Amino acid sequence: MKPARIAILPGDGIGPEVVAEAVRVLKAGAFDWLQFEFLEAPIGGAALEANDDPLPPRTLAAARSADAILFGAVGDPRFDTAPRAKRPEQGLLRLRQELGLFANLRPATVFPGLEAASTLKPEVVEGLDILIVRELTGDIYFGLPRGIRVLPGGEREGFGTMRYTEGEIRRIARVAFEAARRRASRVCSVDKANVLETSQLWRETVTEVGRDYPDVQLDHMYVDNAAMQLVRSPRQFDVVLTGNLFGDILSDEASMLTGSIGMLPSASLDEAGKGLYEPIHGSAPDIAGKGIANPLATITRSAPRPARRASSRRLRGCCARGPVPPTWAAARRLRWARARWATW
Ligand code: IPM
Ligand code: MG
Repeated sequence: MKPARIAILPGDGIGPEVVAEAVRVLKAGAFDWLQFEFLEAPIGGAALEANDDPLPPRTLAAARSADAILFGAVGDPRFDTAPRAKRPEQGLLRLRQELGLFANLRPATVFPGLEAASTLKPEVVEGLDILIVRELTGDIYFGLPRGIRVLPGGEREGFGTMRYTEGEIRRIARVAFEAARRRASRVCSVDKANVLETSQLWRETVTEVGRDYPDVQLDHMYVDNAAMQLVRSPRQFDVVLTGNLFGDILSDEASMLTGSIGMLPSASLDEAGKGLYEPIHGSAPDIAGKGIANPLATITRSAPRPARRASSRRLRGCCARGPVPPTWAAARRLRWARARWATW
């Protein structure tokens, strides 16, 4: 059996620590019928240091050739004042764009027994199970024109462009509706349609796509209200569908409902379902190297439920909490866990 190829991109800060733990689990989970081949490559600040490029060609090639990518984190304060192209974050952003990883799934679930870890009252978060579906390759993150220019009077002005095509909105909306069908059949699309044209088109297009899913309840919410509702009564949400910028902010907020940003995994998928799997936390330079970073988000709960169930039967004894994501990729190739990521 050909081994599943896993690109390992540890990155910066606590990234290498948490990824090393996940790799240990993967190795423990290997069997005759489930072998892995690891391709480790630098990204982010680590790559800038070695190659003066946050996404060196060999890292991109490793990611392209892999069946799945296991990613740690990027971000290093030493590059805070560097020009944008020479910042660690560019490694991840370019990777998402180059590989067309447009669908970012960010679940926020509260582990039973850990309700008290949340800063909200346990009764508000008990049983919480939200899936944020964030568009990942468009919006003001990538929209052109952008830059910092000098105005005629000599003052500098920063500018960016928020943009989405109907096609980009449709494909991410479908991901959200399909996910909702496997969950509680509710989608809340988050935008700022009362102010932004991009959001107006977003809302119209999502509504259109929603007609193909009459069994899924669709609501729309302005992002400011959604930020408030997430802390007021988070269990009202099932699938939250949103753009790149709003999704970045809301997913950090949602993660804290569960008590720790260190516990939540994230999958970024292309049209064929190939994915990059990462914890949603960042590089946390303040605790890097201290051996106290929580590797749970990288190790566990990063596979869809059916795959976890199927795998855990086989991996019991080797991996206490089910497979890490690339296990799932391998499993899919083996055709015994044909589950979709949508079923978090
Ligand atoms: C995330 C991160 C990234 C983002 C950074 C590191 C570029 O915050 O994955 O949420 O803004 O998307
Ligand atoms: Mg973020």
